[in-house]
Amino acid sequence: MELDERTRASVTAYDDHARAYQESLRLRRPVADVRRFADLARRDALVLDAGCGPANDLRLLRDAGVHPVGLDLSLGALREARMLLPRHPLVQAPYHAPPFRARSFGGLWLSGGFNHLRREQWRPALAALLELLDSGPVYFAALRGTRDLAEVEDPVLGTVYVSEAVDAEVKALLASHGVRDLSIEVRPDPIHDRRRLWVVALGTYRR
Ligand SMILES: C[S@@+](CC[C@H](N)C(=O)[O-])C[C@H]1O[C@@H](n2cnc3c(N)ncnc32)[C@H](O)[C@@H]1O
Repeated sequence: MELDERTRASVTAYDDHARAYQESLRLRRPVADVRRFADLARRDALVLDAGCGPANDLRLLRDAGVHPVGLDLSLGALREARMLLPRHPLVQAPYHAPPFRARSFGGLWLSGGFNHLRREQWRPALAALLELLDSGPVYFAALRGTRDLAEVEDPVLGTVYVSEAVDAEVKALLASHGVRDLSIEVRPDPIHDRRRLWVVALGTYRR
């Protein structure tokens, strides 16, 4: 899968602003979602945080009783994550070529992970990530809307390119890949602008 130039430019923005990004999100994490996710996982399950950024959720997931592995394409974000979590498993790789064996995880956490991916790449990227899952919970949060790598001036990251989906699309995407018992919610963005909406989905994947 060839990554769009705009995806690469967005990842570079995380390289350059990882610390500021981490700090801007630190106090507004989806704590209740992490607990619901962990409750659906096996105790001590290995879970994949795909697009983990500078470790915004890795500690929360760990504290909730699962073992998260962070994957991200941004080396700058992973360096920041490494400072917070000196001995934690962190891997630099794109979603479509994760360096793990099939069925080695018991959960998939994707919080804003597809925000900078071309919409037509969401399906193959999700398929590649679900290959890694044996069974377990799947969390998926995406910006709500219809834009496809549209240019956005982010107050922390500078120029990034953003893709979005509406609730029905998120539901169809996850259901068609075998994610069941889906709950889908639409929520205001807690940080930048409450008029911006997120679609937040949680379900369970079983083979
Ligand atoms: C919106 S941030 C989400 C960070 C974190 N999960 C959170 O909730 O704050 C998106 C992350 O996905 C990463 N990313 C974007 N495209 C990627 C790709 N194709 N493969 C791997 N990581 C990617 C970016 O580097 C960035 O860290």
